[in-house]
Amino acid sequence: MRTLITNIGELTTNDPRLAAADPTGAADPTAAADPTGTLHDAAVLVEDGRIRWVGPIGDAPAPREADETVDAAGRAVIPGFVDSHSHLVFGGDRAAEFEARMAGQKYAAGGIRSTVAATRAATDAELRARLRGLLDEMHAQGTTTVEVKSGYGLDVATEERLVRLAAEATEEVTFLGAHVVPVEYADDPDAYVDLVTGPMLDACAPHARWIDVFCETGAFTVAQSRRILEAGIARGLRPRLHASQLGPGDGVRLAVELGAASVDHGTFLTDDDIAALAGSETVLTLLPGVEFSTRQPYPDARRLIDAGVTVALACDTNPGSSFTSSMPFCIAVAVRDMRMTVAEAVWAATAGGAAALRRDDVGRIAPGARADLVLLDAPTRVHLAYRPGVPLVHRVWKDGLPVA
Ligand code: NIG
Ligand code: FE
Repeated sequence: MRTLITNIGELTTNDPRLAAADPTGAADPTAAADPTGTLHDAAVLVEDGRIRWVGPIGDAPAPREADETVDAAGRAVIPGFVDSHSHLVFGGDRAAEFEARMAGQKYAAGGIRSTVAATRAATDAELRARLRGLLDEMHAQGTTTVEVKSGYGLDVATEERLVRLAAEATEEVTFLGAHVVPVEYADDPDAYVDLVTGPMLDACAPHARWIDVFCETGAFTVAQSRRILEAGIARGLRPRLHASQLGPGDGVRLAVELGAASVDHGTFLTDDDIAALAGSETVLTLLPGVEFSTRQPYPDARRLIDAGVTVALACDTNPGSSFTSSMPFCIAVAVRDMRMTVAEAVWAATAGGAAALRRDDVGRIAPGARADLVLLDAPTRVHLAYRPGVPLVHRVWKDGLPVA
């Protein structure tokens, strides 16, 4: 099956080599250094789920060589969003907690426990329906790759259910048994760490690719986080970490030391954290929905990017701290309140997310990559931030097939 998408007004490829070849001259002379690899008046040929060809309309294969031609009519095309941080398998509802927070109550990690009770009580069918519904929402907003964490079970049987259900929906499954210490272990958190690193890891590792810990006051200490991540690494899982969401701490440096693919949140970073990240392969994943929904200060992405840190953007869809599934919303907030340029924010939501998942087959539109594309109902990607809250996602393809 070959699909030709033509008359693309602005094509974000995230492959600088493709932009350097833009013969329309619309690309500026520094285009080779532009990580978004932007082409104007471009076309893309998709074949059997992969990108086959990318280039100027004039050089494109003839429509008769494709099974189907899509006329983008001058609109913009970007890679599908790679949302590298979400918690989609849970029961219950915490709208009242959000409402109380907006009336002045402070966000605390312990709210997770109310979702745990509802999740344990939910059937597989209920959890699956919630997960599917959220994934449909994400697809409709241009997301084509999603990481999904467990973490609302916190006992062996329920955590195993959550990673198993997540694995039905995505290959990017994260075991987050160490989300918070459950009430039944409140007096002996280290015994819970024994459970997470022992029987729970045994049950969950076969379904997961990643291991994560919420390293924060009120959740797990740096020493406990290290124990848990090292146990996961020994089982073949790869580390990532929640850190510095509610206050400064040593989590970011632990993530860098262990070679984590990503450390997420980073709302309260020290200069040492930034220096450690800048000299590392660890991506910092910013989650603007969290600051928005918990009324915390936004991290200064400008300072991070200028220091040389690789930044990703993700939604952190979860019932407590950020119940948005919209990457366009996160881009708009990152541009408005975290001082990212639109190009940086779109890169962070696509190629940045791919880097945070150590993937090179998504997050870019280049020959060989998966055909995950978003056709915007807008002439440029700037509209994603310029028109906040407006549904600008016109069509979405995942592996070459329409999903929205
Ligand atoms: O990423 N930080 C820890 N976990 C979630 C919040 C979970 C909750 O409040 O239910 C997060 O923000
Ligand atoms: Fe999270």
